[in-house]
Amino acid sequence: MERITLHDKTFRTYIPYAEIDKAISKVAQQINRDLMNEDRPVFLGILNGSFMFTSDLMKKIDLNCMVTFVKLASYSGTESTGDVKEVLGLCADITGRTVVVVEDIVDSGTTIVKLVEDLKKKNPKQIKICTLLLKPDAYKQEIPLDYVCIRIPNDFVVGYGLDYNNLGRQYKDLYVID
Ligand code: IMP
Ligand code: MG
Repeated sequence: MERITLHDKTFRTYIPYAEIDKAISKVAQQINRDLMNEDRPVFLGILNGSFMFTSDLMKKIDLNCMVTFVKLASYSGTESTGDVKEVLGLCADITGRTVVVVEDIVDSGTTIVKLVEDLKKKNPKQIKICTLLLKPDAYKQEIPLDYVCIRIPNDFVVGYGLDYNNLGRQYKDLYVID
């Protein structure tokens, strides 16, 4: 088992890339099926965490679609601050379009709630949520999560785009706090 150290914490290999890739393929197939008849859906990646996931997911999407990003932040260290700031806004026109939000991880759901609230004001046809990871024991919101690749317990994870205080995003596998 491989270990990495980021700041003051050690992490060990948790979910290898091969497993992540398989889970993404499954979800991509569902999306391809479900959105086949939609007019140019907009895939909206949430930076920074979803950059790697969005990249891998999009390579498996066979739809005539748009890919764009917004940047949000709600975490400080290993705990959610509950205070979601929109750092970089949305430029694309999503009026009447199907939007697929692409998130790295849904934890408490605060980020998703704020984001969906903001997106609804721009009158999209519908909003679908796609997340690489979900912590079901932490998620207490009403918003349905349409596409979940992997469900994990309430442990802090890094790698594959996810960070601990801005470090660890570049690793291909997922690591869990040791
Ligand atoms: P939520 O608003 O509580 O659902 O938190 C969502 C955001 O917190 C995600 O987009 C991540 O950026 C971050 N986050 C939540 N859990 C983790 C984790 O285990 N590792 C790294 N970042 C996390
Ligand atoms: Mg994030």
